[in-house]
Amino acid sequence: MVGNWKMELSHLAAVNLATSLKRVWGEDTLRVQVVVCPSFPALLPVAEILKPLKELQLGAQNVHWQEQGAWTGEVAVSQIKPFVQWCLVGHSERRALVGETDEQVQAKAQLLIKEGLRPIVCLGETAAERAQELIVETVTQQVEAIFTVATRTTLQRLVIAYEPVWAIGSGEMPAPSEAAEVMLLIRKLAAQRFGEEVAAKLCIIYGGSVNARTVEPFVAEPGIDGVLVGGASVQAREFAEIVRVVERVSGQE
Ligand code: PGA
Repeated sequence: MVGNWKMELSHLAAVNLATSLKRVWGEDTLRVQVVVCPSFPALLPVAEILKPLKELQLGAQNVHWQEQGAWTGEVAVSQIKPFVQWCLVGHSERRALVGETDEQVQAKAQLLIKEGLRPIVCLGETAAERAQELIVETVTQQVEAIFTVATRTTLQRLVIAYEPVWAIGSGEMPAPSEAAEVMLLIRKLAAQRFGEEVAAKLCIIYGGSVNARTVEPFVAEPGIDGVLVGGASVQAREFAEIVRVVERVSGQE
């Protein structure tokens, strides 16, 4: 379970959300692994507030692909490392709005793994690619860019988030079975490169317009290991409800 808080919250609102989440869950009540991704300045206070929750970890929303240097305004892996275990890379908003390329996403994932952090690699087709029936081509290209720099061991440390771009923040979603089909493609590509056993363990999650009402059929699909939630993750009750559904469906309640 990943909550991507994007740039939705003021500093105070982020601290309040973390406090509410802690209140909702209390200590040791989470049955599934949850990662929340606040903006950089909120990482430390949110980490402090959520520290007592055993199954909850922190992620950054982005990082630079170079280790250090003259990159005004950018943030390096070594700078987030003291605060987070995870980091989103290749989110479609960055690919579309900042022009992030597969090569940069690849370099970020590689650097994160080298530094012992866990990348959550976001990928998926745009509405235009979907209309042109290019889902397989697009996803294959994006996922292969990551698999090229992974090994049988490091593959276990990353998560692939399949997020059809047209489904993000739009209220539109693919049929759960359609999303599961894309996950199957990703798993097959992993199997070709790393073998069936490693591919079976690869964590692949779905993202795009997930909320407490829409989540269940997605996580009920075999092969969908979790969800990445944007808009609905910045409301404590809604996010907690999504987590509860995932716990129930995955038999962890
Ligand atoms: P959404 O965003 O849940 O608001 O659609 C998902 C994401 O951007 O990761």
